[in-house]
Parts: sequence; structure tokens; C-alpha cells
Amino acid sequence: MAIRLIREEDEPVLRKKCKPVKEITPKIAELAEDMLDTMYNANGVGLAAPQVGMLKRMVVIDIGEGPVVLINPEIIETSGEQTGNEGCLSVPGKTGVVTRPNYVKAKAVDITGQNIIVEGEELMARALCHEIDHLDGILYVDKVEGELMDVETEEDE
Ligand code: NI
Repeated sequence: MAIRLIREEDEPVLRKKCKPVKEITPKIAELAEDMLDTMYNANGVGLAAPQVGMLKRMVVIDIGEGPVVLINPEIIETSGEQTGNEGCLSVPGKTGVVTRPNYVKAKAVDITGQNIIVEGEELMARALCHEIDHLDGILYVDKVEGELMDVETEEDE
């Protein structure tokens, strides 16, 4: 377990399309652990592998209900709409308004190789969209409505 360096907005690795994880090797398990450590250390609620420089389709999320590790996640259903503030550990100190679905269902593989379904509303739905966007090189700043604003708090996603 280790804390990895979080890559910031202007780094090309954040703009690349990530590759699917073919096999859950010990290195992948270690990456998942390190991503969780890195996310918690930065007081984030989500982190995607490219944010620590790895072009793998992996995200971790914890909205306060325990850690979720999603490998090769895909959104399979959405509904409704929510408009609210979003932040990103790769865009430190900033926040902006983004509209997302209010409900999201995703399929993925967990760290034991099981197929799982994860669903949620509000913050969980927002986190799923935000983190899965990272896997295709998309940052929330691409979708922000109006200007990015400065924040004092550490409520990054
Ligand atoms: Ni982010």
C-alpha cells in the first residue's frame, strides 16, 4: 500500500483513453489499494487510474459508504438530471457546476473478478459519471457550465 502522485490537469496522461484490464494480477490489486490510499489521503470521494498515471480502466469511489473498486466499469443505465458543484483531485482548488444524470447504474468487475452492478443517485451517480469519464480522457472542466471557481474546502471528487 502506498500513496501515489496525483497527476494534474495539464498532464497528457489525463487526456488519453484507458485500456481495459484483462486480468486481475497482483499488480492490479496493488494499484487498487494504492488508489484507495491516495484518494483517502487527498480527502477525495473518487479517483481514476489515469490520475495516478496508469492508463487502465479502473476507478475507486467512496462517498462515505465504504470503498468501491470498479474494474472495466461501463454505465448501462441513467435517468433524471442533477445540476451541482463538482471538483476533481487533478484540478486542485477549483469547483464548477456540471449537470449529470441523477441516477446511474454501472456494470463492472470487482477486485475478486466477480461481475458486479453498482447503482446510485445524487453523489454516487455524479461520482460514477465523473470517474468513468476519466477513463476516456474527459475531465469535468470540459462539461462545466460557466466559470471554474476557487474553493477553500477539500471536497474534491
Ligand atoms: Ni476527477
